[in-house]
Amino acid sequence: MRRRAGGAGRETERDGRMAIVEELEALREQTIAQIAQAADTAALEQVRIGVLGKAGTLTGYLRQMGQIAKEERAAVGKTANEVRAAVEGALAARKEELAASELAAAIDAAAVDVTLPGRSQQVGTRHLINRITDEISEIFLGLGYTVATGPEVETDYYNFEALNAPADHPSRSLADTFYVRDLSGAQAAVRGESDVLLRTQTSGVQVHAMEDNELPIYVIAPGKVYRRDVADPSHLPQFTQIEGLVVDEGITFGDLKGTLDYLCKQMFGEERKTRFRAHYFPFTEPSAEVDVSCGICHGEGCRFCKGTGWLEILGCGMVDPNVLSMSGIDPEKYSGFAFGMGVERIACLKYNVPDLRMLVEGDMRFLRQF
Ligand code: DAH
Repeated sequence: MRRRAGGAGRETERDGRMAIVEELEALREQTIAQIAQAADTAALEQVRIGVLGKAGTLTGYLRQMGQIAKEERAAVGKTANEVRAAVEGALAARKEELAASELAAAIDAAAVDVTLPGRSQQVGTRHLINRITDEISEIFLGLGYTVATGPEVETDYYNFEALNAPADHPSRSLADTFYVRDLSGAQAAVRGESDVLLRTQTSGVQVHAMEDNELPIYVIAPGKVYRRDVADPSHLPQFTQIEGLVVDEGITFGDLKGTLDYLCKQMFGEERKTRFRAHYFPFTEPSAEVDVSCGICHGEGCRFCKGTGWLEILGCGMVDPNVLSMSGIDPEKYSGFAFGMGVERIACLKYNVPDLRMLVEGDMRFLRQF
């Protein structure tokens, strides 16, 4: 702006007024630019406070209006109001714009990508040994049997003596026993051994069942048994047995055969045959071992059945009258049959598993197949 040397005061005032109007216009431009650059609603709010807030630049000008000469106040006031209206309009427009894009970003961030493959959960299943145990139990429950149990830490009486195997009986060496230190100080039945042991068979549950139940008795007893054996393809130091016991009037060997034949067909398939081979167990007389026809060669003979066409699955027999009388049952009036089978062995036969140890090693690659 040009100034005349020694010019009137009026000129200077005019210059001052023009300067304020120009400043206001510059403020408008600068603010509109800041509004356009505000990257989010928080930044936009800072711009608003800086201009229109209590200590804002435009607010400052408006406060000074009183000090401006009356005749100029209208022009400056007009400009100030225009600037305020322009700034407020720009703020509102930008605010709407930012709110819309912030909402869009929030929706994007929370969105689910339906094309991503799902994360699958590994569902656990029951172990094959438990499943076979249940399967066999169900077959007998369907025939009206109930489930009996007994302790795994057993006394010599239930594991041997009451099963017709007194202290000097050779059958005691048929299976090597884990003895448990007997703290009662009682005289042991076998010299040098304790009277407390880990049961070597579930047959002891027969004795508990006869002591605890009214006649007739139709029970099965699944449970763990222990033997001092080194694990190999056909032995485990701990395994599972299922015992069966029937005591009633008029029970015959024919009932035993029919029951076990039914069990085999249910377990392995209708086409499978059974055969009974004479055997010895101290608590049954007569005793037998039961074989089922080989599921691989159907009786022709193959490696799985060692060329015989048959697979041994359990031991059984008619309950020895001595065993009945020892448990207080009259053998003249009642007769019964009993059987016992190894669950791991049956699982291996059913699924053609060549080594019992594979069932207990916990290798998921193997277990997952069942
Ligand atoms: N306890 C026998 C064993 O462990 C299996 C057995 C055979 C059980 C004949 C029985 C039976 O009840 O009658 O080898």
